[in-house]
Amino acid sequence: MHPAKLSKIFHLAYPAIQKLPLDWQVKLMSYGRMKFMKEFCDYIPKAQFIPHDDYAVNAWGLKFGSPLMNSAGMFKNGEAYDTVAKLGAGGYIGGTSTANARSGNAKNGITLPFITLPNSDVAVNWLGLPNLGDDVLVQKNITFNKVDGCPIGWSLMRSPDYDEDVGLQLLIDSLWKYHNHPQIDFIEINESCPNIKAGGGNIIARLQVIADEFLNKRERKLPVVVKLSNDLSMSSLEEILTALVKLGFDGINLGNTSTNYADLINKISNHNENKLFDYFVNNYGGGVSGKLLKDNSLNLCTHSAEILSKINPGYEFHIIRSGGVEYFADVKASLENGATLVQWYTGFFAAYNLHRDKVYANIFAK
Ligand SMILES: Cc1cc2nc3c(=O)[nH]c(=O)nc-3n(C[C@H](O)[C@H](O)[C@H](O)COP(=O)(O)O)c2cc1C
Repeated sequence: MHPAKLSKIFHLAYPAIQKLPLDWQVKLMSYGRMKFMKEFCDYIPKAQFIPHDDYAVNAWGLKFGSPLMNSAGMFKNGEAYDTVAKLGAGGYIGGTSTANARSGNAKNGITLPFITLPNSDVAVNWLGLPNLGDDVLVQKNITFNKVDGCPIGWSLMRSPDYDEDVGLQLLIDSLWKYHNHPQIDFIEINESCPNIKAGGGNIIARLQVIADEFLNKRERKLPVVVKLSNDLSMSSLEEILTALVKLGFDGINLGNTSTNYADLINKISNHNENKLFDYFVNNYGGGVSGKLLKDNSLNLCTHSAEILSKINPGYEFHIIRSGGVEYFADVKASLENGATLVQWYTGFFAAYNLHRDKVYANIFAK
C-alpha cells in the first residue's frame, strides 16, 4: 500500500484508537510504525523534486540541495536514500548503527515500543538502537542513483553492550570502516541516545581518544559531527563545544530526544494524549521528540553560535539543528540563529501525511 494511504488511514482512525485501553494503543502504534516504515522505505516517488538553487548549502565542500534532511534513526539500516532523494531532501543520514547487531527493545509483548501524539505533534520512542551492526552495514550499497545535492551521512555510536573502553575501541574500528565506504560523505557520532542503559562515562575523554585514533588520522575529507541531547545544559554545552573545536571535530548536532518528562508532560494539553504520554514514559521511558523540543533546540543553536563566535574555530565548524522542526519558518529561524543544516523526524512524518510526495516541495516552493 502507498505509505501516504497508510498514514491517512491511521489519522482517520485516530479518534477511535484514542478510545482503546492505553496498552492497546501502544501496541497498535508500535506495530503501525514498523508497518508504515517498511512501506515508506520500499516506495519510490515518480517525480524528482529539486529545491531551487537559492536554497542550496555548501558545507565542508559538500553541496546540500537545501539545508533540510532527515535526522538519524529514520533509516537505521541505510534504507530509503532513493525515496527521500526523490522527494527533494537536501541530504540523507543513515543509522544510528553500532558495532554489534541489536534487535532493540521489547517489553510487555511489544517490540520496539513507540507512540505518536498527532494532536500535540509529539512522539515518544523506546526503540533501543535496533540495527544490523556495522560489519553488515559497511558493506551496504546505499544507492545506485546518488543525487547531486543529496550527500550521504552516517550516524553511529559506541555500542552499549560493551564496557566503555571496549565499546570505544569498537566504535573507532567502525569509524575506519565507514571512512572507507565510498558513498559516505560525512559522519555523525551519536553521544545522546536515551534508550540504552546509562553508562555515560566521560564524554570529553572519549572525544579525545576519537580525535587521536581517528579524526587526526583521516585519509580523506570526511567531516565528523557529534550529536548531543536537547537536554544539554548551557554550561555543559560550552565545555563540550570548546573541546570539540580544540580537538578538530567538524560540527555539532543539537540535538537528540528529551527525557525531561516532568516538564514536557505539562505542555501536552490534549487530555487523551497527556494520559498516553504519562502511561508510556512510566512503563517504558523513551525519548520525546517533536514540537516540544522546538524552543530548546533553537536556544541551543543560538547559544552555540554565540560560543563559537567567541572561540573562533578558524576552520569550517557547522551547527546542525534537530528538534521540533516542522515548517519553513523553523528552517529559516535555524539558519538565522547559527545553524547551517537542519534535520527533522517527527515533523517530517506529520508533513508527509499532509503533503505526501510534496513534503519537501511544500517547504521549498518558490
Ligand atoms: C522513532 C525514533 C527513532 C530515533 N532514533 C534515533 C537514532 O537512532 N539516532 C539518533 O541520533 N537519533 C534518533 N532519534 C532522534 C531524532 O533523530 C531527532 O534527533 C529527534 O527526534 C528530534 O527531532 P524531531 O523533533 O524532529 O523528531 C530518533 C527519533 C525517533 C522519533
